[in-house]
Amino acid sequence: MTDKATVDLSGAAQTMLTTLYLKALDAEGPAPVLGDRFARDTVAGLDYDWDTLGVGRGWAPLVTVRTALYDSWAREFLERNPEATVVHLGCGLDSRVFRLDPGPEVRWFDVDFPRVIALREQVYPARDGYRLLASSATDTAWLEEIPADRPTLFLAEGISMYLTASEGADLLQRIVDRFPRGELQIDFYSRLTIASQRLHKLNRTTGSTLHWGVDRPSDVLGAVTGIRPLDAVTFFDAETFDESSRGFRAARRVARVLPPLRRSLQYHRYGFGPID
Ligand SMILES: C[S@@+](CC[C@H](N)C(=O)[O-])C[C@H]1O[C@@H](n2cnc3c(N)ncnc32)[C@H](O)[C@@H]1O
Repeated sequence: MTDKATVDLSGAAQTMLTTLYLKALDAEGPAPVLGDRFARDTVAGLDYDWDTLGVGRGWAPLVTVRTALYDSWAREFLERNPEATVVHLGCGLDSRVFRLDPGPEVRWFDVDFPRVIALREQVYPARDGYRLLASSATDTAWLEEIPADRPTLFLAEGISMYLTASEGADLLQRIVDRFPRGELQIDFYSRLTIASQRLHKLNRTTGSTLHWGVDRPSDVLGAVTGIRPLDAVTFFDAETFDESSRGFRAARRVARVLPPLRRSLQYHRYGFGPID
């Protein structure tokens, strides 16, 4: 008998096991990029054969560079807006609310499929001002649960690619139309990354299908009205890039002369509503 939580997920929902595991491996390594001790403890508390994911510590920067950058952007937003709402879309088992540990004036909502939220409830404690919403992000009834009275950060990390382009644009448009002021922080795979998805081990393992590819902010600005670009960097240019990884440093040298590789993984940030 084990008292560990049982994992029964497939497809897009299962992909968060890989991001969680890579964060845990990063935390155990000699030079962590993110150092997420919550991920390490959560992995230890789940009844799952992690070897079946087929990934090792060398892959961790593909997740931790992104997560560390969004932590930094989210902290900046909260410093400017101490009374704010944060909505974390496709949260998986990410521990951002605990890593950032925002003050009592911050309301925080984590949104994911019901099976993911049920698992989340087993592994993470409750906290004041924090709510879980069990829904597909595209069934936008959940938006009504969120008061539109404060600057709002919508953080969507590792989810855009599981939506179709029209689902994604429609979701962002509904957010911008309902909330008076805030930010969208969202990452994208390039169109080429999406087109070559069968070559990516991660997708083959989970059987998930990727849809929405974006090559530059103008693709998003053309699909959603009322947003303005604040920042856009690639995996290779992020301030959180893992300089200790010889393999990714070599890939970066190639990416600098090969734009399709350089834009394969992108991290965007948009503002909406009145400028501060
Ligand atoms: C690659 S994981 C990323 C998880 C987390 N953001 C992280 O970085 O560790 C993708 C997550 O998006 C969620 N997801 C995918 N499509 C979704 C949808 N339509 N509605 C809500 N969550 C979704 C999955 O269940 C999964 O938790």
